[in-house]
Amino acid sequence: MTPMTTTTEGRSWKRAAVTGGTGFVGRNLITRLLAEGLAVRSVDNRMGEPRPGVETVTADLRDPEQTAAALADVDVVFHLAGNPSGTVSVENPRYDFDSNALVGLNVLEAVRGTPGTRLLYLSSAMVYGRPDTAPCREDDECRPFYPYGASKLAVEHYVAAYVAAYGIDAACARAFVVYGPGEDPSRAGAEPGQFLRWHLNDMPLRIVGSPDAKRRDFVHVDDLTAGLLIAALRGTPGQVYNVGSGTDTSLRELVAVIETATGRAARTTVDDTDLTDSYPLVADIGRLRALGYTPQVTLAEGIARLAEELGSNPAPPTLATVLSAAPR
Ligand SMILES: NC(=O)c1ccc[n+]([C@@H]2O[C@H](COP(=O)([O-])OP(=O)(O)OC[C@H]3O[C@@H](n4cnc5c(N)ncnc54)[C@H](O)[C@@H]3O)[C@@H](O)[C@H]2O)c1
Repeated sequence: MTPMTTTTEGRSWKRAAVTGGTGFVGRNLITRLLAEGLAVRSVDNRMGEPRPGVETVTADLRDPEQTAAALADVDVVFHLAGNPSGTVSVENPRYDFDSNALVGLNVLEAVRGTPGTRLLYLSSAMVYGRPDTAPCREDDECRPFYPYGASKLAVEHYVAAYVAAYGIDAACARAFVVYGPGEDPSRAGAEPGQFLRWHLNDMPLRIVGSPDAKRRDFVHVDDLTAGLLIAALRGTPGQVYNVGSGTDTSLRELVAVIETATGRAARTTVDDTDLTDSYPLVADIGRLRALGYTPQVTLAEGIARLAEELGSNPAPPTLATVLSAAPR
């Protein structure tokens, strides 16, 4: 096993733990870490498919003792586990708090108990709320309006506080809207995978909000995992890094990209009765770029690849969008 070494920070690792390793981003990150030559432990409360070279630990990270045991004896922890859904957080804010905020605290306590362990926490662009400007910079004001954004932001603040109070070695990454292979359609609420799955089943694409004013930064999971690795290797303790494509795309433009990738017109329905989330949410990626991050996968290329991976009749998405689930 060849340890990986950074040129800027002198970090050198042999063993990594990925919390949420059974999930969409976790599985893709593990693939990336294995390719880097690391020994990987996947920690999750759901059993995943066994993978060669991956140690699997089943643990509920809401429990502090299980968390400490699961994260012992590794050089770096990528903390991804938790509730990733704004919809679920609106329906069940206590579950969201326990899965994100409490789990985050348990992970920080475990890392505090093992000096020298590096931590990268995966936060979300939902912490920004409705940004005043686009693109968003990491120092912009954060005003989350779903419980999910609040719990993710709380853990970012805890990371900064643990760095200051206890000197732990930890940084945060804020992912924008992630798409790519391996999403579970019953858990995934992001538009690229949702729209494509509907389209490939000849179902109408349901646009919630304004097709033009709702603008997002869609980032392919391969770029995200590359960005997470760079942030972990080179990120300053206590610092936050946006990880996106840096590209601004409206939902109407996303539909056009899907039509081009599949070579046929899409049917769309528009529910613009609630424009709460019809705003631009796009990453300024300058801070991570300065550490060497360069997104590689254009939306056109990523959607074309995903269309091929999904085939003609993928399972359709079942998770409601956050606004259709929220009480009015
Ligand atoms: N997918 C996106 O578009 C996106 C965007 C921004 C941020 N994120 C963040 O990325 C991370 C991963 O998201 P994902 O899309 O892979 O979600 P996912 O639901 O596919 O994976 C999350 C994993 O965490 C596990 N988990 C949840 N609670 C746990 C607990 N108490 N103990 C142990 N394991 C637990 C789940 O079993 C699941 O396998 C989340 O932290 C999410 O907030 C995702």
